[in-house]
Amino acid sequence: MKKDLTSIADLSKQEILDLLHEAGALKAEISRQGVVPLARGKMGVLIFEKPSLRTRVTFERALHQLGATSTYLSPSDVGLGVRESVPDVARNLSRWVNCIIARVFEHEKITQLAENATIPVINALSDLEHPCQILADLLTIVDHRGSLEGVTVAWTGDGNNVCHSLMLAAATVGFNLNVATPKGFEPAPAITEQTRKLSEKSGAKIRLTYDPCEAVAEADFIYTDVWASMGQENEAEQRRQIFRPYQVNRQLLSRAKPETKVLHCLPAHRGEEITDEVLDGPQSVVLDQAENRLHIQRAILARLLRNG
Ligand code: CP
Ligand code: NVA
Repeated sequence: MKKDLTSIADLSKQEILDLLHEAGALKAEISRQGVVPLARGKMGVLIFEKPSLRTRVTFERALHQLGATSTYLSPSDVGLGVRESVPDVARNLSRWVNCIIARVFEHEKITQLAENATIPVINALSDLEHPCQILADLLTIVDHRGSLEGVTVAWTGDGNNVCHSLMLAAATVGFNLNVATPKGFEPAPAITEQTRKLSEKSGAKIRLTYDPCEAVAEADFIYTDVWASMGQENEAEQRRQIFRPYQVNRQLLSRAKPETKVLHCLPAHRGEEITDEVLDGPQSVVLDQAENRLHIQRAILARLLRNG
């Protein structure tokens, strides 16, 4: 049966740990050989309804490093569900290529693509989740801390797509997560419930709070993201007022341990959710996260496309 990556919850703890291991192994092989043609002759299609720097470049680069090719379809090319129904797009692409990498507004479109394609579908960001980002972040945490065992991460800001995938990852793997959001901007109740169930098995401690200082006090990593995600631009001004106490700045960092590292998926709105001095400072590991997008996505693609 074909595999998809629509949500972090598609993966078991062991599958996540295997991907992190494979990412490291392939990174070493690529640095020696340049290309590791595990997917020679295959092709991935990127269908993006929203802009991207990191996701697009790293997926295209990873495909080429595995001996595969890629094509990019911009919002104006496809018109998912407008020019043509999502199931019809999925069925057509399944006849020509080997993998769909989709960035969409409504998560439902990812689900529909996966249900109707006979090839793997990868969620490259939806309004609900950003699983590839979080897998890269887990790799970054392991790079800096050696393992995910006993790690505590604090999220401060919006209970958004990146936060959701982080919650599901923590609950699956079993690390601790404190999520601080303003009232009214908590994670989606369905994700919180899914997280609660997964945590019962893994033992992860996941706490929701409105107090960013409480969230960061014991954290090894502090993670933030933009206050207004793509598609919420008209709420940006109102959100700037509400989210101000959740900014990652020197004052908030002083409430954490001195060795605490700072994560941000990027792009950052400098001076809003994070100050320049923190983003560019010694505790920031944001460029390691960005680099790890390439390494983890190479491993994801190898898992889904490997020539059998
Ligand atoms: N972090 C991330 O997904 O970046 P892009 O939006 O640039 O792809
Ligand atoms: N939450 C952000 C993440 C961007 C990578 C957004 O959806 O715009």
